[in-house]
Amino acid sequence: MSEKEKYTELVREIFSRDSSPRLACVHSYGCQQNVSDGERIAGMLSEMGCGITNDMNEADIIVLNTCAVRENAELKVFGNIGELKHLKEKNPDLIIAVCGCMAQQEHIAEKIRKTYKQVDIVFGTFALAELPRLIYNVLTERKPQCDISERREDVYEDIPAVRSCRYKAGVSVMYGCNNFCTYCIVPYVRGRERSRTPENIINEITSLVNDGCKEIMLLGQNVNSYGKGLEPKIDFPELLRRINRIDGDFRVRFMSPHPKDATPDFIDAIAECDKICKSIHLPLQSGSDRILKAMNRRYTVEDYMKIVDYARRVMPDISITTDIIVGFPNETYEDFLGTLDVMKRVKFDNIYSFIYSKRRGTKAAEMEDHTSDEDKGKWFRELLALQREISDEYYKRFMGKTMKVLFDGPSRREGYITGKSDEFVIVEAKGTASDIGTFKNVKITETHNWAVCGDITD
Ligand code: 5AD
Ligand code: SF4
Repeated sequence: MSEKEKYTELVREIFSRDSSPRLACVHSYGCQQNVSDGERIAGMLSEMGCGITNDMNEADIIVLNTCAVRENAELKVFGNIGELKHLKEKNPDLIIAVCGCMAQQEHIAEKIRKTYKQVDIVFGTFALAELPRLIYNVLTERKPQCDISERREDVYEDIPAVRSCRYKAGVSVMYGCNNFCTYCIVPYVRGRERSRTPENIINEITSLVNDGCKEIMLLGQNVNSYGKGLEPKIDFPELLRRINRIDGDFRVRFMSPHPKDATPDFIDAIAECDKICKSIHLPLQSGSDRILKAMNRRYTVEDYMKIVDYARRVMPDISITTDIIVGFPNETYEDFLGTLDVMKRVKFDNIYSFIYSKRRGTKAAEMEDHTSDEDKGKWFRELLALQREISDEYYKRFMGKTMKVLFDGPSRREGYITGKSDEFVIVEAKGTASDIGTFKNVKITETHNWAVCGDITD
């Protein structure tokens, strides 16, 4: 019996003395990887005998699974931890845990310990499987617990997930990042790259598909460097090809590849495999070679354009989305114009743009920055306006076409539902709750800069 199993049993035994099951609420902030970790935290809590709820007010255990990628994410978490104080006052037996990327940083763990006495447990990204032990210690010792030590071997295979959606699932293929982009906190809070074995990945996807799952999102900080250190050798294109051979009616996305590892074989694999969506999220970050170098991205604008050109040559309709950071230290207006220029050349379907946020401990945090916040804000708005124009124009290519859509919820418009096409475009159509979680073909009759609309044909 593993340590995790031993403590799970001990906690389960304590909880079973209650007259009704304890309820646990796990709230994840940030990226898909975090959401996936949150599902496994819920899985462990469920193994301990807890029911799972989305309502913090009725919970006996609250886990905040945090994100540290930008400062505003952290501020939101601190606000939310503060608000939990009154719940703890009402229910002194409430157990509050804070985990994830913020918790992994020593200065944050220290701040929580000093300032937020309502928090019982702080545990980092490496300590996911320690949760049963930490809860047991809180129950028996009645004092706060903290585990933010780094462990190397955290490719968790024995933690079940309580999935929040039955027809869409994130599947981690690798953890961590070796790239050390100078602005990014991720390598410091999630450690070095380690890949899951293809067998474990394929088994997980096969069982999800057999359970009716329609969309698999392969997750990793840098998915296309998948496979490093595995024996026998395998790389990401080969993994895609193997996943594509799994039987069933499902589609596959992945997030996020790094341009420096985007080889022609990687593009060819996407083109060849019918289950892999013809859409790629390829983070550009900046359209200035000077800034890309300062960011330690290890590609130039021309390298990036070569990948885009090749992808469009083999898949003319492929949709390309990206991440862009505005206002990296000492970015000039000229550098910024370089970014606008690449946006016009590529014609991204959509961009996720962020104003640079200083992260303590990263290289960029030490860099001088003479660019004013006012300029950064102005440029950011300019970038959004340009992208609106580009999407407005570019989405017109879908007019009259039929798109395969997986519907995932009601739209704000009465009687309409919304979902995503293979191209990762938001699609709205008239429909009912019974269409949700199924693939439908939609003939597009209207296009906007944020979505397209149409009629379900079959
Ligand atoms: N400031 C702003 N944006 C950031 N990102 C990562 N770190 C920072 C930061 N310090 C963005 C990058 C990345 C996305 C997930 O978040 O664009 O691709
Ligand atoms: Fe951060 Fe760069 Fe790693 Fe992405 S590739 S997680 S931006 S360090």
